[in-house]
Amino acid sequence: MEKKNIDWANLGFGYIQTDYRFVSNYKNGAWDDGILTEDANVVINECAGVLQYAQTVFEGMKAYTTVDGRIVTFRPDLNGERLEQSAARLEMPIFPKDKFVEAVIKTIKANEAYVPPYGSGATLYVRPYMFGSNPVIGVKPADEYQFRIFTTPVGPYFKGGVKPLTIRVSDFDRAAPNGTGHIKAGLNYAMSLHAIVDAHKQGFDENMYLDAKTRTKVEETGGANFLFVTKDGKVVTPKSSSILPSITRRSLVQVAKEYLGLEAEEREVYLDELKDFAECGLCGTAAVISPVGKVVDHGKEICFPSGMTEMGPVTKKLYETLTGIQMGTIKAPEGWVVEIK
Ligand SMILES: Cc1ncc(COP(=O)(O)O)c(C=O)c1O
Repeated sequence: MEKKNIDWANLGFGYIQTDYRFVSNYKNGAWDDGILTEDANVVINECAGVLQYAQTVFEGMKAYTTVDGRIVTFRPDLNGERLEQSAARLEMPIFPKDKFVEAVIKTIKANEAYVPPYGSGATLYVRPYMFGSNPVIGVKPADEYQFRIFTTPVGPYFKGGVKPLTIRVSDFDRAAPNGTGHIKAGLNYAMSLHAIVDAHKQGFDENMYLDAKTRTKVEETGGANFLFVTKDGKVVTPKSSSILPSITRRSLVQVAKEYLGLEAEEREVYLDELKDFAECGLCGTAAVISPVGKVVDHGKEICFPSGMTEMGPVTKKLYETLTGIQMGTIKAPEGWVVEIK
């Protein structure tokens, strides 16, 4: 298979249309078998449920080439499981996780020519999603749905080296206490757009959202979970029922314990204790870990000892171990790295 003529190392994070996408329709209470198609356009009625009441959920994952030239993806079963939970919360039919993994593999395989080579730093981003497709005018769930997966090659996250982020404590809330913060629904991202545009205008890279009820506890950013390291080398991640259960964060916690012999704890983290941590990072599929150098709380700066020039030592070890597992230089736990054959 010949690769597409793409300047992999200089790709950004944008949409580039690839050859195939997977499409399955849900009608009369059942999903069809689904097909791969070259048609990148979605044609739906003007009154479709997704357009009126935002009934849509999605996932984000990657395919990449390992050191020994295999095309793989990372823990797709967990994305499938999370999509099931997201769909259930929005009264959408479940696209079963086994069928999900099969469809992801099929779509990556069909777009093999767009999977960037090992060492380029680029990856093939995979976007599964589903939405209510039939006309809905009264507020209720749709009866018909479409599940799709498209792929798009994206560039290395850290172009020109890692640079720790500066984030602000946001006055906007991301998720209500008993709302939808724990699922990957489009609606959570629509309402974060104003906050992120405003943060960028004020010179910050990201928003740190607090729990909406007490505004004392750390939740997450608009697209990643937090991970902290204490001064005595323990990994701490915020526990909350209104944050997205990041697959990267869960993997890093397991790596911390089983590969690095570190203590790791998932617990409530108070804004007040940030000053006591040695390192801070954001975990997500996009970057694995982005180091945070500084949090600004209404003019008050909380600077982590790891500084503004590089990743902290524990964050770096976690990053190197998980990316080593993903790239095939370190032995992966059973089922983490799934080969596309
Ligand atoms: C709100 C939010 N939190 C956390 C994450 C990180 O999750 P994952 O590690 O599964 O990519 C994402 C990105 O998917 C996200 O959108």
